[in-house]
Amino acid sequence: MAEGDSVIRYDASGVIVDLTAAGTWDKETGLLADDVRWVWPRLLACRDEVLADVETKVQGNPVPPEKDPLDSRFVDLPERLLGPEKKLVDQWIVTADRFVSRVDRVVVLGIGGSYMGARAMFEACCHPYHNELPRDRRNGRPRLYFEGNNVDSDAVRGLLELLEAGGSDWGIVVISKSGSTLETAVAFRVFVDALRSAAGNRFPERILAVSQQNSRLWRLCEALGVSRTQLFEFPDDVGGRFSVLTAVGLLPAAILGLDVRALLQGAAAANAAFRRDTFDENPVLAYTAVCHLMELRRQACIRVLSTWGKRLEAVGLWYDQLLSESLGKNGQGATPLTVVNTRDLHSRGQQHQEGRRDKLFTNLFAQTPSLPAVSLPRWENDQDELNSLAGKTVADVLTAARLGTKEAYAQDRRRTAEIVVPRLDERALGELFQMLMLATAVEGRLIGVNPYGQPGVEAYKRCMRAYLQGKNV
Ligand code: PA5
Repeated sequence: MAEGDSVIRYDASGVIVDLTAAGTWDKETGLLADDVRWVWPRLLACRDEVLADVETKVQGNPVPPEKDPLDSRFVDLPERLLGPEKKLVDQWIVTADRFVSRVDRVVVLGIGGSYMGARAMFEACCHPYHNELPRDRRNGRPRLYFEGNNVDSDAVRGLLELLEAGGSDWGIVVISKSGSTLETAVAFRVFVDALRSAAGNRFPERILAVSQQNSRLWRLCEALGVSRTQLFEFPDDVGGRFSVLTAVGLLPAAILGLDVRALLQGAAAANAAFRRDTFDENPVLAYTAVCHLMELRRQACIRVLSTWGKRLEAVGLWYDQLLSESLGKNGQGATPLTVVNTRDLHSRGQQHQEGRRDKLFTNLFAQTPSLPAVSLPRWENDQDELNSLAGKTVADVLTAARLGTKEAYAQDRRRTAEIVVPRLDERALGELFQMLMLATAVEGRLIGVNPYGQPGVEAYKRCMRAYLQGKNV
């Protein structure tokens, strides 16, 4: 690859990673071809290590202490669920459909990796006002609420009141790998109590759970009378934030009527590209190269994921967790920051344009809106002087804002990469999830940080428990 090459615009299977954007190759503030040549063999070695990590688990080989925990089986999950383990997917879909026939409102309880993926899919793929629509406009699918992702008294009380006001037609999906996360466990007790009051002794039929077998949550569900067919195993060797394409994300997705197989097919396409050896054909490694080099050589230790449109905000929050919990260890790891534009141009835009040069911007957007376009009407009253724009769509205005922002950053030599989704559907989302998970695992190996596990999170839990057990608050 020569300096100034047009680099990569990868679109073989849907998602495009565009690193040509806005002077990425600027000699003083962007990437240098020599640096890419230097990092590329290292990235290939890390890619091979990530794949070998899967084999270690497949073969049941001992895990070296420095690699423990090794939650590497998210990598081959899509192919397994589309092939030898496809019965699991069938089961999730059948169970979801049966559940949906019993309830019209579902409370999903979970936190962190047991929450963010389902919310990302809900916001990206469902109608923006899904919960406000009548059932027939929701394709016969239930309303979805998320709890157990905090310990917020007013939020819990508010949802309990809402559920009570709407009758008894609701159920619970509880998700926790460990089965002992306090936030989720507290919410589960509270909401099961309410469900028992609403549904009487048939309440166990209204509960689905995803957890490790024999966890506290698993045993509690069994004791409550939840049928074995409504309990789903959280795979041992897939980490929480890498679990979106297990029952953790796919069961809520099936409840919403999303195309679960398309999500997996998109992820399998990302895997296929990940195995290719050249920069122009491997968006995972190309994206990792840019992020890593911009951090290493240009002090861009803040990674701003600029999402264009509200539907992608929760995908960004999912990625914030993935990146920060995976790589924020041993004093290392870039800081992720999701923004939603144009909303946040009116809050963070000033700093991004003229503040510290410590950021890499990555635009994430869909080329086409999911719902029919909205056009600006022409009016006789033109006091707002918008008639010059009459006929343009709201999407046209967003595109102009995105292109304008990219150019304004470029004029000040601030770097932007792009991840482009042709259309925000299940296939594209599956590909994007897998791409970002693979990139995170590779970068962990590259910087010598175990991307799996989150030992640092234990500190707050220890202190919190001490307060709960009587230490003065
Ligand atoms: O990525 C992770 O492992 C964490 O963010 C977990 O998902 C989160 O702490 C919730 O844990 P659990 O699923 O055990 O309730």
